[in-house]
Amino acid sequence: MSILIRGGRIITAADDYVADIYVEDERISLIGESLDVQADRVIDASGKYVLPGGIDVHTHMDTFFGGTTTADNHYDGTVSGAFGGTTTIVDFVIQTPGESFAAALAGAHEKLERNKPVIDVGFHLAVTDLKNGGSLEDLAQLPDEGITSYKLFMAYKGTPVYVDDETLFRTMQVAAENGSLVMVHAENADVIDVLVKKALAQGNTAPKYHALTRPPETEGEATNRAIQLAHIAGCPLYVVHVSCLDAIQPIERAREQGWEVTGETCTQYLRVDNSFIDQPGFEGAKYVYTPPPREKQHLEAVWEALQSDALSVVSTDHAPFRFKDQKTIGKDDFSKIPNGPPGIEERLKILHEFGVRAGRFDLNRLVQLFATTPAKIFGLYPRKGTIVTGSDADLVVFDPEKKQTLSVETHHSTCDYNLFEGTEVTGMPEVVIVRGQLVVDGDELVAPTGHGQFIKRARYGERLSQ
Ligand code: URP
Ligand code: ZN
Ligand code: ZN
Repeated sequence: MSILIRGGRIITAADDYVADIYVEDERISLIGESLDVQADRVIDASGKYVLPGGIDVHTHMDTFFGGTTTADNHYDGTVSGAFGGTTTIVDFVIQTPGESFAAALAGAHEKLERNKPVIDVGFHLAVTDLKNGGSLEDLAQLPDEGITSYKLFMAYKGTPVYVDDETLFRTMQVAAENGSLVMVHAENADVIDVLVKKALAQGNTAPKYHALTRPPETEGEATNRAIQLAHIAGCPLYVVHVSCLDAIQPIERAREQGWEVTGETCTQYLRVDNSFIDQPGFEGAKYVYTPPPREKQHLEAVWEALQSDALSVVSTDHAPFRFKDQKTIGKDDFSKIPNGPPGIEERLKILHEFGVRAGRFDLNRLVQLFATTPAKIFGLYPRKGTIVTGSDADLVVFDPEKKQTLSVETHHSTCDYNLFEGTEVTGMPEVVIVRGQLVVDGDELVAPTGHGQFIKRARYGERLSQ
């Protein structure tokens, strides 16, 4: 199969120019002006942008969490991602306490086989138990299987995913030795647990108490703690879903000192403030995710941190739970509402509308946040995350003029609500190509069954060969 993309405006992390791209089989084989080649399919991209396919390094497909399973499996979720211009996800595999890492990963690979993603997939391993099931020795071997990042939940006390500082620090020591990256969900679990119990004892059960019991300081304190522990251990650290100034500041300080710390935010922390969770009745449950929606000044701080590079990646934390029969698990108790947002499909549209079109940053910065930096940090670059000859032909032809009002009808997730309902955007993906194969063509899903592949990633700081 060959594809010629004619006359598009090619945007990478550093460049912005008009040229043709010739794709043969899975790779980009030529880039140049007026290429004289024959192709099975010619796409006229004049007036359009051609971007590297998006890398979403924070998704939870088909994951048991908060008493139920996320609504999208690896097929549903990757279809939704593809329509949003994402061509690779790195999904979380969570070790059940007592389970070996090998068993957790075998289960995840089995799900991929069964559910057949349409885009490429890598895995992070979420470590929950190093005493029974998971050993430090087994952990150290995971990069050989292409798993080069470990995630630890400093939050969710009393649930199977929570880890204490000893587990966190021991994992950091392994990562310092074997070239892996440690990722943290940073919140002070003990303090939140006390605040949640107090709210419930006072009869405060509505969704808004999810936000009121997780103040920004709990995120700031845990972020700083994780940074200091990673510094002692000597490992690189990646702080996931940063939502507030209290967490941005310690990341900024560490980076100024040259420490290997990277901060990620997610699309919802750019658009959804705390008024969304504070609505009459149970409507606010749609916005119960962790960290919670923050006051408006924190949203502006997050945008500024994306401009200054205090935060360097935007992902989605796609963890959809249906409103009608999953969020309702917590209708009488906010602490039982399954935590997580839908949103894998809206990332590029939101970044383009409220980042580029609003004048907050340029198209190169959009590509850095959406594709190139996550590819570099998570061992996918330069095979993915850029547009050069030899790289995987993971490409998005983006129409910067096309308008859409985001709604549950416009997304392809199985979730029964859209987090950004009613948001008007100009600019959307038109054609999406994954390893040389058309996956989205206008409104149509045209991916061959099972096109998505598991990707073994390189160690932190290493390149993934093309
Ligand atoms: O609320 C969230 N973010 N749910 C997904 C799990 C996590 O904490 O990342
Ligand atoms: Zn989290
Ligand atoms: Zn998450």
